[in-house]
Amino acid sequence: MALEKHCETIKSRISKIKYVIFFYSKGGVFVLLWGLVFLFAACKPKQVGTFDRDDWEKPALNPVLSADSTSEFVCPVSDTPVYWEKADVFNCAAIVHNGKIAMLYRAEDNKAAGIGGRTSRIGLAFSTDGTTFERMKKPVLFPDKDAYLQYEYPGGCEDPRIVAHPDGGYLMTYTAWNGKTARLSVATSKDLNTWTKHGPVFAKAGQQWLDMWSKSGAIVCKLVDKRPVPKMLDGKYWMYWGDNGIFAATSTNLTDWTPFVDDFGNLIPILSPRKRRFDSGIVEPGPPALVTGHGIELIYNGKNADDPELADARLPPGMYSIGLAIFQPEFPSLPVQRSMAPFIRPTLPHELTGQYKSGTTFAEALVPFNGKWWLYYGTADSYVGVAMVKK
Ligand SMILES: *[C@@H]1O[C@H](CO)[C@@H](O)[C@H](O)[C@H]1NC(C)=O
Repeated sequence: MALEKHCETIKSRISKIKYVIFFYSKGGVFVLLWGLVFLFAACKPKQVGTFDRDDWEKPALNPVLSADSTSEFVCPVSDTPVYWEKADVFNCAAIVHNGKIAMLYRAEDNKAAGIGGRTSRIGLAFSTDGTTFERMKKPVLFPDKDAYLQYEYPGGCEDPRIVAHPDGGYLMTYTAWNGKTARLSVATSKDLNTWTKHGPVFAKAGQQWLDMWSKSGAIVCKLVDKRPVPKMLDGKYWMYWGDNGIFAATSTNLTDWTPFVDDFGNLIPILSPRKRRFDSGIVEPGPPALVTGHGIELIYNGKNADDPELADARLPPGMYSIGLAIFQPEFPSLPVQRSMAPFIRPTLPHELTGQYKSGTTFAEALVPFNGKWWLYYGTADSYVGVAMVKK
Protein backbone atom coordinates (compact mmCIF):
# COMPACT_ATOMS: atom_id res chain seq x y z
CA MET A 1 0.00 0.00 0.00
CA ALA A 2 2.75 2.42 1.02
CA LEU A 3 4.75 1.61 -2.10
CA GLU A 4 1.82 2.30 -4.41
CA LYS A 5 1.16 5.61 -2.71
CA HIS A 6 4.82 6.50 -3.28
CA CYS A 7 4.55 5.61 -6.95
CA GLU A 8 1.53 7.88 -7.33
CA THR A 9 3.45 10.67 -5.69
CA ILE A 10 6.41 10.11 -7.97
CA LYS A 11 4.15 10.19 -11.04
CA SER A 12 2.79 13.54 -10.00
CA ARG A 13 6.37 14.81 -9.64
CA ILE A 14 7.27 13.79 -13.17
CA SER A 15 5.32 16.74 -14.53
CA LYS A 16 7.80 18.93 -12.67
CA ILE A 17 10.75 17.49 -14.63
CA LYS A 18 10.45 20.28 -17.16
CA TYR A 19 11.69 22.61 -14.44
CA VAL A 20 14.64 20.33 -13.84
CA ILE A 21 15.48 20.56 -17.54
CA PHE A 22 15.24 24.33 -17.39
CA PHE A 23 17.70 24.45 -14.53
CA TYR A 24 20.00 21.96 -16.19
CA SER A 25 20.67 24.61 -18.78
CA LYS A 26 21.81 26.84 -15.90
CA GLY A 27 24.22 24.27 -14.58
CA GLY A 28 24.55 20.93 -12.88
CA VAL A 29 24.30 22.38 -9.37
CA PHE A 30 20.63 23.15 -9.88
CA VAL A 31 20.01 19.66 -11.16
CA LEU A 32 21.54 18.23 -8.03
CA LEU A 33 19.60 20.56 -5.69
CA TRP A 34 16.23 20.02 -7.33
CA GLY A 35 16.89 16.33 -7.59
CA LEU A 36 17.37 16.17 -3.82
CA VAL A 37 14.25 18.24 -3.16
CA PHE A 38 12.10 15.95 -5.33
CA LEU A 39 13.62 12.85 -3.81
CA PHE A 40 12.69 14.01 -0.31
CA ALA A 41 9.21 15.05 -1.38
CA ALA A 42 8.62 11.70 -3.10
CA CYS A 43 9.70 9.73 -0.06
CA LYS A 44 7.25 11.43 2.27
CA PRO A 45 3.97 9.43 2.13
CA LYS A 46 1.29 11.70 0.73
CA GLN A 47 -2.27 11.94 1.98
CA VAL A 48 -4.91 11.26 -0.68
CA GLY A 49 -7.26 14.25 -0.88
CA THR A 50 -8.69 15.84 2.27
CA PHE A 51 -10.11 12.75 3.93
CA ASP A 52 -7.92 9.69 3.30
CA ARG A 53 -5.68 10.13 6.36
CA ASP A 54 -4.79 8.06 9.37
CA ASP A 55 -5.64 10.48 12.18
CA TRP A 56 -9.41 9.92 12.30
CA GLU A 57 -10.58 9.38 15.88
CA LYS A 58 -13.63 7.62 17.21
CA PRO A 59 -14.74 9.50 20.36
CA ALA A 60 -15.47 7.46 23.50
CA LEU A 61 -19.16 8.42 23.38
CA ASN A 62 -19.75 6.01 20.46
CA PRO A 63 -22.30 4.96 19.40
CA VAL A 64 -24.03 8.35 19.29
CA LEU A 65 -27.55 7.04 18.58
CA SER A 66 -29.29 3.79 19.44
CA ALA A 67 -32.79 2.35 19.10
CA ASP A 68 -35.58 3.72 21.30
CA SER A 69 -38.49 1.48 22.24
CA THR A 70 -40.66 4.33 23.57
CA SER A 71 -41.17 6.61 20.54
CA GLU A 72 -44.58 5.91 19.08
CA PHE A 73 -46.53 7.25 16.14
CA VAL A 74 -49.56 6.26 14.12
CA CYS A 75 -48.53 4.83 10.76
CA PRO A 76 -50.80 6.51 8.19
CA VAL A 77 -50.70 3.42 5.95
CA SER A 78 -51.82 0.83 8.51
CA ASP A 79 -53.63 3.34 10.77
CA THR A 80 -52.11 1.63 13.79
CA PRO A 81 -49.61 2.90 16.39
CA VAL A 82 -46.04 1.69 15.78
CA TYR A 83 -42.83 1.92 17.75
CA TRP A 84 -41.07 3.32 14.75
CA GLU A 85 -37.46 3.25 16.06
CA LYS A 86 -37.64 0.25 18.31
CA ALA A 87 -35.51 -2.22 16.36
CA ASP A 88 -32.45 -0.38 15.00
CA VAL A 89 -31.28 3.09 13.96
CA PHE A 90 -28.36 3.44 11.57
CA ASN A 91 -27.58 5.05 8.20
CA CYS A 92 -27.92 8.83 8.44
CA ALA A 93 -27.56 12.22 6.79
CA ALA A 94 -26.37 15.32 8.65
CA ILE A 95 -25.99 19.04 8.01
CA VAL A 96 -25.37 22.23 9.99
CA HIS A 97 -28.70 23.94 10.75
CA ASN A 98 -28.99 27.08 12.96
CA GLY A 99 -25.59 26.39 14.52
CA LYS A 100 -26.43 22.79 15.41
CA ILE A 101 -25.84 19.49 13.68
CA ALA A 102 -29.14 18.20 12.32
CA MET A 103 -29.19 14.47 11.71
CA LEU A 104 -31.73 12.53 9.64
CA TYR A 105 -31.45 8.85 10.41
CA ARG A 106 -32.97 5.60 9.24
CA ALA A 107 -35.03 3.84 11.90
CA GLU A 108 -36.51 0.33 11.72
CA ASP A 109 -39.63 -0.42 13.67
CA ASN A 110 -40.29 -4.04 14.40
CA LYS A 111 -37.71 -5.97 16.34
CA ALA A 112 -39.49 -9.28 15.81
CA ALA A 113 -39.45 -8.98 12.04
CA GLY A 114 -36.28 -10.23 10.44
CA ILE A 115 -34.10 -8.34 7.95
CA GLY A 116 -36.38 -7.18 5.13
CA GLY A 117 -39.56 -7.58 7.21
CA ARG A 118 -39.40 -4.20 8.84
CA THR A 119 -40.49 -0.76 7.71
CA SER A 120 -37.86 2.03 7.68
CA ARG A 121 -38.69 5.64 8.46
CA ILE A 122 -36.51 8.70 8.76
CA GLY A 123 -36.14 10.43 12.12
CA LEU A 124 -34.63 13.81 13.02
CA ALA A 125 -32.21 14.67 15.84
CA PHE A 126 -30.10 17.69 16.82
CA SER A 127 -26.72 18.09 18.50
CA THR A 128 -24.74 21.06 19.77
CA ASP A 129 -21.56 19.06 20.47
CA GLY A 130 -21.52 16.41 17.72
CA THR A 131 -21.93 13.41 20.04
CA THR A 132 -25.09 13.91 22.13
CA PHE A 133 -28.33 14.08 20.17
CA GLU A 134 -31.80 15.19 21.08
CA ARG A 135 -34.38 13.53 18.90
CA MET A 136 -37.87 14.35 17.77
CA LYS A 137 -40.62 12.00 18.91
CA LYS A 138 -42.03 11.34 15.46
CA PRO A 139 -40.40 10.45 12.14
CA VAL A 140 -40.24 13.17 9.48
CA LEU A 141 -40.27 11.04 6.30
CA PHE A 142 -42.20 7.76 6.03
CA PRO A 143 -44.50 5.75 3.77
CA ASP A 144 -47.90 7.42 3.55
CA LYS A 145 -51.08 7.08 1.51
CA ASP A 146 -49.58 9.25 -1.21
CA ALA A 147 -48.52 8.92 -4.85
CA TYR A 148 -45.35 7.07 -3.81
CA LEU A 149 -46.87 4.36 -1.61
CA GLN A 150 -46.31 1.72 -4.32
CA TYR A 151 -42.56 2.42 -4.16
CA GLU A 152 -42.23 2.84 -0.38
CA TYR A 153 -44.33 0.18 1.29
CA PRO A 154 -43.81 -2.05 3.15
CA GLY A 155 -40.01 -1.54 3.07
CA GLY A 156 -40.06 2.19 3.72
CA CYS A 157 -37.76 5.19 3.34
CA GLU A 158 -34.08 4.37 3.80
CA ASP A 159 -30.55 5.77 3.74
CA PRO A 160 -30.90 9.57 3.52
CA ARG A 161 -28.27 12.00 2.24
CA ILE A 162 -28.84 15.74 2.59
CA VAL A 163 -27.65 18.94 0.88
CA ALA A 164 -28.62 22.61 1.18
CA HIS A 165 -30.82 23.47 -1.81
CA PRO A 166 -29.37 26.30 -3.95
CA ASP A 167 -32.81 27.99 -3.82
CA GLY A 168 -33.01 27.71 -0.01
CA GLY A 169 -34.11 24.89 2.25
CA TYR A 170 -32.93 21.31 1.93
CA LEU A 171 -32.90 18.45 -0.51
CA MET A 172 -32.71 14.81 0.55
CA THR A 173 -32.00 11.77 -1.56
CA TYR A 174 -33.24 8.51 -0.07
CA THR A 175 -34.05 4.95 -1.07
CA ALA A 176 -37.70 4.04 -1.55
CA TRP A 177 -38.05 0.31 -0.82
CA ASN A 178 -41.21 -1.65 -1.52
CA GLY A 179 -39.65 -5.03 -0.85
CA LYS A 180 -39.02 -5.67 -4.57
CA THR A 181 -37.11 -2.79 -6.15
CA ALA A 182 -35.04 -0.09 -4.46
CA ARG A 183 -35.59 3.29 -6.09
CA LEU A 184 -33.48 6.36 -5.48
CA SER A 185 -35.93 9.16 -4.62
CA VAL A 186 -35.85 12.82 -3.68
CA ALA A 187 -37.65 15.07 -1.18
CA THR A 188 -37.32 18.74 -0.24
CA SER A 189 -37.97 20.72 2.93
CA LYS A 190 -37.76 24.29 4.18
CA ASP A 191 -37.27 23.36 7.85
CA LEU A 192 -36.14 19.69 8.01
CA ASN A 193 -39.45 18.80 9.69
CA THR A 194 -41.96 18.90 6.87
CA TRP A 195 -40.87 17.14 3.71
CA THR A 196 -42.34 17.19 0.21
CA LYS A 197 -41.71 14.01 -1.75
CA HIS A 198 -40.90 14.29 -5.46
CA GLY A 199 -40.65 10.58 -6.16
CA PRO A 200 -38.03 8.45 -7.90
CA VAL A 201 -35.24 10.53 -9.46
CA PHE A 202 -35.34 8.57 -12.73
CA ALA A 203 -39.16 8.66 -13.20
CA LYS A 204 -38.92 11.16 -16.08
CA ALA A 205 -35.94 9.39 -17.68
CA GLY A 206 -38.22 6.57 -18.88
CA GLN A 207 -39.91 3.39 -17.65
CA GLN A 208 -36.73 1.32 -18.01
CA TRP A 209 -34.90 3.64 -15.60
CA LEU A 210 -37.84 4.02 -13.24
CA ASP A 211 -37.99 0.24 -12.85
CA MET A 212 -34.27 -0.19 -12.39
CA TRP A 213 -32.73 -0.92 -8.97
CA SER A 214 -31.13 2.34 -7.75
CA LYS A 215 -29.76 3.63 -4.44
CA SER A 216 -27.40 5.97 -2.65
CA GLY A 217 -27.38 9.37 -4.38
CA ALA A 218 -24.40 11.57 -3.51
CA ILE A 219 -24.80 14.95 -5.23
CA VAL A 220 -21.65 16.88 -6.16
CA CYS A 221 -21.50 19.99 -3.96
CA LYS A 222 -19.35 22.90 -2.94
CA LEU A 223 -19.12 23.88 0.74
CA VAL A 224 -20.75 27.26 1.31
CA ASP A 225 -20.87 28.47 4.94
CA LYS A 226 -20.11 24.92 6.17
CA ARG A 227 -22.95 23.42 4.17
CA PRO A 228 -22.80 21.34 0.99
CA VAL A 229 -24.61 23.17 -1.81
CA PRO A 230 -25.05 21.42 -5.19
CA LYS A 231 -22.62 22.83 -7.73
CA MET A 232 -23.15 22.83 -11.47
CA LEU A 233 -20.22 21.58 -13.51
CA ASP A 234 -20.37 22.47 -17.18
CA GLY A 235 -24.02 23.53 -16.88
CA LYS A 236 -25.30 20.43 -15.05
CA TYR A 237 -25.64 19.06 -11.55
CA TRP A 238 -23.92 15.71 -11.04
CA MET A 239 -24.74 12.84 -8.76
CA TYR A 240 -22.92 9.58 -7.99
CA TRP A 241 -25.24 6.70 -7.21
CA GLY A 242 -25.57 2.95 -7.13
CA ASP A 243 -24.42 -0.03 -5.14
CA ASN A 244 -22.45 -2.88 -6.67
CA GLY A 245 -20.72 -0.22 -8.75
CA ILE A 246 -20.87 3.56 -8.74
CA PHE A 247 -22.64 5.25 -11.65
CA ALA A 248 -23.39 8.90 -12.44
CA ALA A 249 -26.42 10.99 -13.38
CA THR A 250 -26.98 14.60 -14.34
CA SER A 251 -29.78 17.10 -13.79
CA THR A 252 -30.66 20.74 -14.31
CA ASN A 253 -33.11 21.05 -11.40
CA LEU A 254 -32.00 18.42 -8.83
CA THR A 255 -35.42 16.71 -8.94
CA ASP A 256 -35.32 14.83 -12.22
CA TRP A 257 -32.11 13.05 -13.16
CA THR A 258 -30.75 11.49 -16.35
CA PRO A 259 -28.53 8.40 -16.02
CA PHE A 260 -25.04 8.87 -17.47
CA VAL A 261 -24.84 6.34 -20.31
CA ASP A 262 -22.62 5.37 -23.26
CA ASP A 263 -23.54 5.68 -26.96
CA PHE A 264 -25.52 2.44 -26.75
CA GLY A 265 -27.60 3.65 -23.83
CA ASN A 266 -25.85 1.46 -21.27
CA LEU A 267 -24.91 2.74 -17.82
CA ILE A 268 -21.22 3.51 -17.45
CA PRO A 269 -19.71 2.16 -14.22
CA ILE A 270 -17.31 4.86 -13.11
CA LEU A 271 -16.01 3.09 -10.01
CA SER A 272 -16.06 -0.70 -9.74
CA PRO A 273 -15.07 -3.24 -7.09
CA ARG A 274 -11.38 -4.23 -7.08
CA LYS A 275 -10.13 -7.75 -6.45
CA ARG A 276 -8.46 -8.31 -3.09
CA ARG A 277 -9.14 -4.79 -1.84
CA PHE A 278 -11.50 -3.60 0.91
CA ASP A 279 -13.98 -2.73 -1.87
CA SER A 280 -13.83 -6.10 -3.68
CA GLY A 281 -17.56 -6.81 -3.22
CA ILE A 282 -19.50 -3.55 -3.49
CA VAL A 283 -18.75 0.15 -3.98
CA GLU A 284 -21.45 2.59 -2.93
CA PRO A 285 -21.36 6.40 -2.57
CA GLY A 286 -21.03 7.91 0.90
CA PRO A 287 -21.90 11.52 1.83
CA PRO A 288 -22.55 14.18 -0.85
CA ALA A 289 -19.34 14.63 -2.88
CA LEU A 290 -17.33 17.82 -2.40
CA VAL A 291 -15.42 19.92 -4.91
CA THR A 292 -12.13 20.86 -3.20
CA GLY A 293 -8.64 21.84 -4.30
CA HIS A 294 -7.97 18.14 -4.85
CA GLY A 295 -10.87 17.59 -7.28
CA ILE A 296 -14.29 16.08 -6.60
CA GLU A 297 -13.84 14.11 -3.40
CA LEU A 298 -16.28 11.25 -2.90
CA ILE A 299 -16.09 9.33 0.35
CA TYR A 300 -17.48 5.91 -0.48
CA ASN A 301 -18.44 2.67 1.21
CA GLY A 302 -16.66 -0.48 0.15
CA LYS A 303 -17.80 -3.99 0.97
CA ASN A 304 -15.17 -6.71 1.11
CA ALA A 305 -16.17 -9.64 -1.11
CA ASP A 306 -17.97 -12.56 0.55
CA ASP A 307 -15.83 -14.95 -1.52
CA PRO A 308 -12.45 -15.28 0.26
CA GLU A 309 -10.79 -15.81 -3.15
CA LEU A 310 -11.76 -12.28 -4.18
CA ALA A 311 -11.68 -10.58 -0.77
CA ASP A 312 -8.96 -8.54 0.90
CA ALA A 313 -7.48 -11.15 3.25
CA ARG A 314 -6.70 -8.50 5.89
CA LEU A 315 -10.44 -7.87 6.49
CA PRO A 316 -13.26 -10.31 7.22
CA PRO A 317 -15.29 -11.27 4.13
CA GLY A 318 -18.43 -9.12 3.81
CA MET A 319 -17.14 -6.25 5.96
CA TYR A 320 -18.09 -2.66 4.96
CA SER A 321 -15.43 0.04 5.41
CA ILE A 322 -14.82 3.56 4.12
CA GLY A 323 -12.50 4.93 1.44
CA LEU A 324 -12.11 7.94 -0.84
CA ALA A 325 -12.24 8.43 -4.61
CA ILE A 326 -11.29 11.65 -6.38
CA PHE A 327 -12.78 12.64 -9.74
CA GLN A 328 -11.82 15.41 -12.15
CA PRO A 329 -14.11 18.46 -11.99
CA GLU A 330 -13.66 18.83 -15.79
CA PHE A 331 -14.75 15.20 -16.26
CA PRO A 332 -16.81 14.18 -13.21
CA SER A 333 -17.01 10.60 -14.49
CA LEU A 334 -13.23 10.19 -14.49
CA PRO A 335 -11.66 8.87 -11.27
CA VAL A 336 -8.10 10.09 -10.83
CA GLN A 337 -7.20 8.72 -7.40
CA ARG A 338 -8.58 6.14 -5.01
CA SER A 339 -7.83 4.84 -1.53
CA MET A 340 -5.67 1.73 -1.42
CA ALA A 341 -7.04 0.84 2.02
CA PRO A 342 -9.99 2.06 4.10
CA PHE A 343 -9.38 5.08 6.34
CA ILE A 344 -12.24 4.02 8.62
CA ARG A 345 -13.29 0.43 9.26
CA PRO A 346 -15.14 -1.50 11.96
CA THR A 347 -13.03 -1.82 15.12
CA LEU A 348 -15.48 -1.31 18.03
CA PRO A 349 -17.79 -4.12 19.21
CA HIS A 350 -20.99 -2.47 17.90
CA GLU A 351 -19.26 -1.88 14.54
CA LEU A 352 -17.93 -5.42 14.20
CA THR A 353 -21.32 -7.08 14.46
CA GLY A 354 -25.02 -6.34 14.91
CA GLN A 355 -28.07 -6.76 12.74
CA TYR A 356 -25.52 -7.19 9.93
CA LYS A 357 -23.12 -9.84 11.15
CA SER A 358 -19.95 -9.17 9.15
CA GLY A 359 -19.26 -5.65 10.43
CA THR A 360 -20.14 -2.25 8.97
CA THR A 361 -19.12 1.35 9.08
CA PHE A 362 -21.37 2.89 6.40
CA ALA A 363 -20.98 6.67 5.95
CA GLU A 364 -23.56 9.02 4.47
CA ALA A 365 -22.85 12.23 6.40
CA LEU A 366 -19.85 14.54 6.58
CA VAL A 367 -20.15 17.79 8.57
CA PRO A 368 -17.61 20.56 9.13
CA PHE A 369 -18.33 21.65 12.71
CA ASN A 370 -16.26 23.25 15.53
CA GLY A 371 -13.01 23.04 13.57
CA LYS A 372 -13.39 19.35 12.75
CA TRP A 373 -14.82 17.08 10.11
CA TRP A 374 -17.46 14.81 11.62
CA LEU A 375 -18.20 11.66 9.66
CA TYR A 376 -21.40 9.90 10.76
CA TYR A 377 -21.96 6.30 9.80
CA GLY A 378 -24.30 3.38 10.39
CA THR A 379 -22.71 0.55 12.34
CA ALA A 380 -23.66 -3.04 11.48
CA ASP A 381 -27.20 -1.78 10.62
CA SER A 382 -27.79 -1.23 14.35
CA TYR A 383 -26.42 2.12 15.63
CA VAL A 384 -25.11 5.50 14.48
CA GLY A 385 -21.40 6.09 15.06
CA VAL A 386 -19.07 9.00 14.43
CA ALA A 387 -15.38 9.60 13.72
CA MET A 388 -13.73 12.99 13.54
CA VAL A 389 -10.56 14.61 12.37
CA LYS A 390 -9.12 18.11 12.64
CA LYS A 391 -9.87 20.34 9.65
C1 LIG B 1 -36.61 19.17 -14.30
O1 LIG B 1 -36.02 19.19 -15.58
C2 LIG B 1 -36.54 18.18 -16.44
C3 LIG B 1 -35.72 18.15 -17.70
O2 LIG B 1 -35.28 19.41 -18.08
C4 LIG B 1 -38.02 18.43 -16.70
O3 LIG B 1 -38.56 17.44 -17.54
C5 LIG B 1 -38.75 18.43 -15.37
O4 LIG B 1 -40.10 18.76 -15.54
C6 LIG B 1 -38.11 19.37 -14.37
N1 LIG B 1 -38.72 19.11 -13.11
C7 LIG B 1 -39.05 20.06 -12.25
C8 LIG B 1 -39.65 19.61 -10.96
O5 LIG B 1 -38.86 21.25 -12.46
